[in-house]
Amino acid sequence: MNLKDYIATIPDYPKEGILFRDITPLMADGPAFAYATQQIVDYAREVGAELVVGPEARGFIIGCPVAYAMEIGFAPVRKPKKLPREVIEVEYEKEYGTDILTMHRDAISPGQKVIIIDDLLATGGTIEATIKLVEKLGGEVVGCAFLIELEELEGAKMLKGYPYKSLMVY
Ligand code: PRP
Ligand code: HPA
Repeated sequence: MNLKDYIATIPDYPKEGILFRDITPLMADGPAFAYATQQIVDYAREVGAELVVGPEARGFIIGCPVAYAMEIGFAPVRKPKKLPREVIEVEYEKEYGTDILTMHRDAISPGQKVIIIDDLLATGGTIEATIKLVEKLGGEVVGCAFLIELEELEGAKMLKGYPYKSLMVY
């Protein structure tokens, strides 16, 4: 199956000069969504993942079905003030200025093997911050997985040393 057939490309969204890769047609197609999910499940098994961690919001869309298929847990990474109990925070670079990502302090058991799953790797700021959160909580990042990698933004540089898999590269 060619997964790229299910990605819509929108010029000048959300602003001029950006070629936006939209995963919603892939999500809308049952067999394509199941196939993509299975590719990541296979990878997550290969690296021995015991927990899925996914950044909001689109990391939930692909991370949760992987966790369900493997019968392992899912821990969300959220923007500030979204999680109701004690959290840890990491600041990260966005295109303009900085932002903060949080996780519940008890989201990961010490030594737990974690796979981080998100829809897309762009500049790598989100994945770098998520790796920091997981490691602060004592988790071991055994792999990262993305539906899409935007190669020219060089997010893979942020992943030095960490194994990862991208199903589609643009
Ligand atoms: C998008 C995308 C990734 C991140 C990738 O999320 O879903 O999480 O950006 O970009 P980066 O590699 O440059 O960090 P966004 O922050 O737009 O949030 P959303 O999923 O809630 O829309
Ligand atoms: N598509 C979806 N999300 C994104 C993109 C994109 O092209 N770039 C940064 N986040």
